[in-house]
Amino acid sequence: MAARGLGLLTSLPLRARRGQVQRPLCRLLSCPGTVAAALGREEQSSGSSETGSEDRTPKKRFSEVQKERREQAQRTVLIHCPNKISEKKFLKYLSQHGSINNHFFYESFGLYAVVEFSQKESVASLQNVTRTPSLGTEAAIPFRSRYFNLKLKTPLNQTSEQSSMRCRNQSSPSSKKLFELLCCAESVDDQLNTLLREFQLTEENTRLRYLTCSLIEDVAAAYFPDCTVRPFGSSVNSFGKLGCDLDMFLDLDEIEKFSTHKASGNFLMEFQVKNVPSERIATQKILSVVGECLDHFGPGCVGVQKILNARCPLVRFSHQASGFQCDLTTNNRIALKSSELLYMYGALDSRVRALVFSIRCWARAHSLTSSIPGAWITNFSLTVMVIFFLQRRSPPILPTLDYLKTLADAEDKCIIEGHNCTFVRDFNRIKPSGNAETLELLLKEFFEYFGNFAFNKNSINIRQGREQNKPESSPLHIQNPFETSLNISKNVSQSQLQKFVDLARESAWILHQEDKDRLSPSNNQPWGLAALLLPSVANSMSLAKKKKKPASERIKNLLESIKSESTENSTATNG
Ligand code: GTP
Ligand code: MG
Repeated sequence: MAARGLGLLTSLPLRARRGQVQRPLCRLLSCPGTVAAALGREEQSSGSSETGSEDRTPKKRFSEVQKERREQAQRTVLIHCPNKISEKKFLKYLSQHGSINNHFFYESFGLYAVVEFSQKESVASLQNVTRTPSLGTEAAIPFRSRYFNLKLKTPLNQTSEQSSMRCRNQSSPSSKKLFELLCCAESVDDQLNTLLREFQLTEENTRLRYLTCSLIEDVAAAYFPDCTVRPFGSSVNSFGKLGCDLDMFLDLDEIEKFSTHKASGNFLMEFQVKNVPSERIATQKILSVVGECLDHFGPGCVGVQKILNARCPLVRFSHQASGFQCDLTTNNRIALKSSELLYMYGALDSRVRALVFSIRCWARAHSLTSSIPGAWITNFSLTVMVIFFLQRRSPPILPTLDYLKTLADAEDKCIIEGHNCTFVRDFNRIKPSGNAETLELLLKEFFEYFGNFAFNKNSINIRQGREQNKPESSPLHIQNPFETSLNISKNVSQSQLQKFVDLARESAWILHQEDKDRLSPSNNQPWGLAALLLPSVANSMSLAKKKKKPASERIKNLLESIKSESTENSTATNG
């Protein structure tokens, strides 16, 4: 398939370089002023548009990142500030408690500051001079957290006092802005990288996520003093979009580790505990009390819901100050390991994240995914599908999970609840892929691959990196990487799967049509990724459905005829 794509691109004009088609310059010049500034924005390592093998930046292990961020969060405070404030005086005031490593401001129904001290002791020093407010007719519950409210003794009225502080944006760009940016990109590869840059979590947003977990940990510590609250899911697996939820894991096992260390001599000391009939009941009881605690005493925690009868019991709430929708769970350590695995896959090749972000945005734009639980595909499933697709390329872009397991050493060994979750965690032991396919080609091939996938009989399996017979009759079967008897997409209905297939075929068709139109780039229509995100694609699908013959079948046949034509042409050229 790769050879076909390259064959097609060799017939392109001079602008096409290294497999990427450069868009006409006029499109770039017609960009609105904001675009250039946005493009020049400080980036995280969004990856180049070239192959993963060129990305040589040293990568930190997941556990290292988590440890560093967690420690950083423990030295950090969150302060609700008056709208008019002198940044300089504010910092001077706080510096009385110790030196400040880092700070930033953001807006979310008010002005907030995130301040990281160099030493943890500075936080205690600040807490010591902080008072509990007296609220007139209402009563305050005196809870001493790291979330403060700053008041001015005398209001600032001289404009000279107010420095022009820069607030860090915590939200993704509007659809309008995104379309402008995409239409001004130079190539489809550039579009995918632009989308990644615009939607990925910023450094500040990541700090705020770890800080929020750390603040929740302080509340949970009222019951479980040595507990840890860790973020997992898209907040940490490198596939998180600005605005995604914050999945938290209340880890009580750390406490057990301490106690085993303390055991010495011929004695073994155990805590007296209450027994309950099952792990699940224990989980429900723990989450129930922590949920109550968050509801009654957790500063900024609102709309607390205890969803204890779910398959995976959780407490859901909004953290008002950060604006995050939080899901707190416990006893699902495997999900934490899945996050680590996805993080590894995201870091192995710079194309992975760009492709996943685009597919996630595409799915969201066409309502294939939703924030409400239901019969839709989840972002987690979509990510696993992209990983599987990249394992199927020739040569593969990503290794299989079984291969990662063979590279593991004794330290990597990990068994959770009887499931073998072992895989290598040192990036240096994994050879970069020799595959040099462009993002544009991969995007098109992704849609073709899943537009033609035999979902009725095959299962997606990233452990082995190949299709397998479906063990059960769910419309979509994606094997859980660690709990291999489970299907992570069991919830997906036949109609939702069909919608996915129809849209994948339609999108492949649009990209193929664009290849044909490249020599006459006169129209000013959204192109490439921008064209795929337009709702008109879905509308045209439903219009086509009203006519008797399904559009998707017609597109599939047309695509097949284009494929055989281009194979014939390339054979003729080669001959
Ligand atoms: P978004 O929140 O949609 O951005 O993506 P997410 O990856 O965070 O997904 P979600 O919040 O739904 O779930 C959080 C994490 O829980 C995922 O990243 C997975 O590690 C894990 N998870 C989600 N769904 C399943 C599932 O069906 N089975 C298993 N085993 N784990 C899941
Ligand atoms: Mg999530």
